[in-house]
Amino acid sequence: EFKQRVFSGIQPSGNLTLGNYLGALKRFVDWQDNGIETIYCMVDMHAITVWQDPEALRRQTRELAAGFIASGLDPQKSILFNQSQVSGHAELGWIFNCVARMGWMQRMTQWKDKAGKNTQNASLGLFAYPALMAADILVYHATHVPVGEDQKQHVELTRDIAIKFNHDYKVDFFPTPEPVIEGAATRVMSLRDGTKKMSKSDPSDASRINMTDDADAIAQKIRKAKTDPDGLPSEAEGLEGRPEARNLVNIYAALAEVSVDDVLRDVGGKQFSEFKPMLADLAVAKLSPISTEMARLMQAPEEIDAILRNGGDKARAIAEPILKKTYDIVGM
Ligand code: ADP
Ligand code: NA
Repeated sequence: EFKQRVFSGIQPSGNLTLGNYLGALKRFVDWQDNGIETIYCMVDMHAITVWQDPEALRRQTRELAAGFIASGLDPQKSILFNQSQVSGHAELGWIFNCVARMGWMQRMTQWKDKAGKNTQNASLGLFAYPALMAADILVYHATHVPVGEDQKQHVELTRDIAIKFNHDYKVDFFPTPEPVIEGAATRVMSLRDGTKKMSKSDPSDASRINMTDDADAIAQKIRKAKTDPDGLPSEAEGLEGRPEARNLVNIYAALAEVSVDDVLRDVGGKQFSEFKPMLADLAVAKLSPISTEMARLMQAPEEIDAILRNGGDKARAIAEPILKKTYDIVGM
């Protein structure tokens, strides 16, 4: 009974990676051509749950917007804006802080990972982050949330918040959104350690391919990527127990937009010394037009800002009546 609507967000916390591209940006762009309303947000209020230098945050937000647009986001088809532009996120976030339970937040694996051992010194915002994320999604009554695997637990928490709100207030007001996690690259791993996800916050630059890396950097990082001594299998089951090998094949498949089986049909039997340059060429071919366009857009900040202003207006127009009705339900 809820109209299909897609929402997702990315933090402007710097160093957009190949993981962000394959797990998020590229898939966001695929959705916009399905005739479904698509809303994409740069979640700056999530970014400041850990310290961000103000000038860096401003630059990274523009760079992320440039990354979206260069990856094919069409501002005529998708809404793109900053979270802080639409106050409804924070307002609904507060209401959800009062719906969600401490115990739910304590179970979040990302909280445990990011807060580390010294939880007493983590920001309160980092702890409450998943309630704000629920507001990001539900302030638009979004029904589908394309994300990487790391965000699955947060979308499930969003569902729990929607269910509890509806139950407590005896309404059928918020939809229970579905996480959409599909394709070969829902969890792109670090190039240095096949058990860790590739992340913009990893201190090792060699662990990730940044969307702004040049051809030489990409080739060098792939050449140095950790693998095992065996060659490439001819079927996917030959990648079992070989996380680094599997990761490189997954990346190839996602970039080439074919299945892992299709890749292995072509390259099965080759050594990694032969496969890595193929992967590097493919990554450069796909990423270099994007990084060139990002660089152009970074020279035209007024173009980016105009798109975001317009996106913010459109987002606000959807969020405002939903927020107004929420206040009404709560008795405000
Ligand atoms: P990061 O984890 O790099 O800081 P965000 O938390 O802002 O990035 O995540 C933005 C989006 O990118 C989310 O949908 C997330 O699931 C996706 N994503 C992040 N890292 C990866 C990865 N290594 N593989 C696939 N998707 C990823
Ligand atoms: Na993440």
